Amino acid sequence: MDELHELKKAFQEELGTVAGLEDLQKLKAKFSGRKGKVSAHLKKISALPPEKRSQFGSTLNEIKKFIEKEVIQLEASLKAEVQQKRLQTEFLDISLPGRRQLFGREHPINQVLTEAKDIFISMGFDVEDGPEVETDYYNFEALNIPKDHPARDMQDTFYVSEDIVLRTHTSPVQIRVMEKRTPPLRIIAPGKVYRCDADISHTAMFHQIEGLMVDTAIAFSDLKGVLELFIHRLFGKDTPVRFRPSYFPFTEPSAEVDIGCIFCGGSGCRVCKTTGWLEILGAGMVNPKVFEMVGYKIDQYTGFAFGLGIERIAMLKYSIDDIRLFYENDCRFLSQF
Ligand code: PHE
Repeated sequence: MDELHELKKAFQEELGTVAGLEDLQKLKAKFSGRKGKVSAHLKKISALPPEKRSQFGSTLNEIKKFIEKEVIQLEASLKAEVQQKRLQTEFLDISLPGRRQLFGREHPINQVLTEAKDIFISMGFDVEDGPEVETDYYNFEALNIPKDHPARDMQDTFYVSEDIVLRTHTSPVQIRVMEKRTPPLRIIAPGKVYRCDADISHTAMFHQIEGLMVDTAIAFSDLKGVLELFIHRLFGKDTPVRFRPSYFPFTEPSAEVDIGCIFCGGSGCRVCKTTGWLEILGAGMVNPKVFEMVGYKIDQYTGFAFGLGIERIAMLKYSIDDIRLFYENDCRFLSQF
């Protein structure tokens, strides 16, 4: 029994020196392992006189249970300590707000382009395409603008070489389409155009939509009807429309089309320069000289053409006073549309 007493004391003493889980594992093996001290004592039972076996056995059993309980308890508290340390050293501050993902959306110019295209498509117009790097012939000469004609001054041109230009308008697509198709024709040609010009209402690149309708009996009234319908669909059906005489070498007669100022309702303001009207596009009846250039018989066909600037329309529609905003890619601006 003294030995058992010593066993328990030895265990308690060593338990007090355990510094970590590794020590504890060693202690556990030393006392309650298969080759540990408790097992060693168990083996002694059979060598004892029978009357001492029972008490020895039950005391040893109590000590065994005591050891197991102490080991489990200490193991739990050591594990908790380790856990606590990890929680402290591996602390991750997740309170920093995330970076917001910005959503992309269609550029306002593309929105207006799509809207305008859809209106003409609904009236039966086909969409045609042409090159942005264009020959002098298609951009000017075939449109009745000869080399030394003063009308070339209307457009500040980027010349790539003597005979190649960045197209200054979408009108060359009229020629390309008429060269490859025969009337009846009802087309629009949206796209980028280039002029050497830059201020709050001009950028070196901007967008136009060209329109062309040719058949055997197209009249100026058809032009008025199509454009009035277009304007009423785009700006509202009560928008006043006015045709003003103008000049383009490729149309005769030519007109500039104004809408009643959408800012002041026609009474006169800064935007319409107190006239009550805003110019939005150029148009006219196709000049017979242009028909001759593409080989159409001038006594057989008549037609009208028009060209409108998308940036200008977008600026009016959304009350934007500086065209450069469209091309600065500032999300604060772009996300408003
Ligand atoms: N091409 C002309 C311009 O850019 C617009 C226009 C097109 C005028 C068709 C009449 C007919 O100024």
